[in-house]
Amino acid sequence: EEQDYREQDYRGLKVVVSAGPTREYLDPVRFISNPSSGKMGFAVAEDARDRGADVTLVTGPVNLPDPNGLKTVRIESALELRDAVLAAATDADVIVMTAAVADYRAAQQSGEKQAKVAGDVTLHLTPNPDILAELGRNKGGRVLVGFAMETHAGVERAAAKAQRKNADFILLNYPTREGTSFGGDDNQVTLVRADGTYEDWPRTSKREVARKLLDEARRLVGGLAS
Ligand code: CTP
Ligand code: CA
Repeated sequence: EEQDYREQDYRGLKVVVSAGPTREYLDPVRFISNPSSGKMGFAVAEDARDRGADVTLVTGPVNLPDPNGLKTVRIESALELRDAVLAAATDADVIVMTAAVADYRAAQQSGEKQAKVAGDVTLHLTPNPDILAELGRNKGGRVLVGFAMETHAGVERAAAKAQRKNADFILLNYPTREGTSFGGDDNQVTLVRADGTYEDWPRTSKREVARKLLDEARRLVGGLAS
């Protein structure tokens, strides 16, 4: 539901959002990735735009067009995502990492298509940098928001992640919950803070989740926590 009159509570603020999956190429025609649709991140970017923010959306490959009225940067790999997010984040007020960043990439990326060989093969993977943690190490006054999907011990694990990465809060969802599957238009999340406090939000549209996320982040901008 679009609202005709939105409060311009993000006017003068810069918001950076990451969205979608990353692709980690093994060779020119094969990659490791995941089914992130990008819808959650695009919803956050569009809601921030409608509230008056200067928005940069950094997205992996998704089937969504560039939204009007904001800057969209298309990337593929986690290393490219890192460069684009860090460049945009220097003067940002709020950074929202919805991207499903691949934890690993090929230790060696082949410049040529790898031919099939007889028998088993072993892939050597190396860890990607943790972008949210990197932002958290040099947080300044910025508000940092993460997302996490967990199959078990969700609140504990999300709180530990928020603490480890120095994020203000993490929105947690479970792949088993109805309406939270990859690619859907709705989402059911739990807001989890680093101190372990949490709020279960009702299942609702991704745009409404985005609105509530930005409400919470806005209260934290400039240390205006209440
Ligand atoms: N994230 C990131 N860079 C990475 C991995 C994750 O910035 N290399 C961000 C995600 O965008 C998300 C948050 O960190 O906002 C949590 O991602 P998640 O995959 O749950 O965290 P991990 O530390 O990778 O933990 P896990 O071992 O559970 O995958
Ligand atoms: Ca991960």
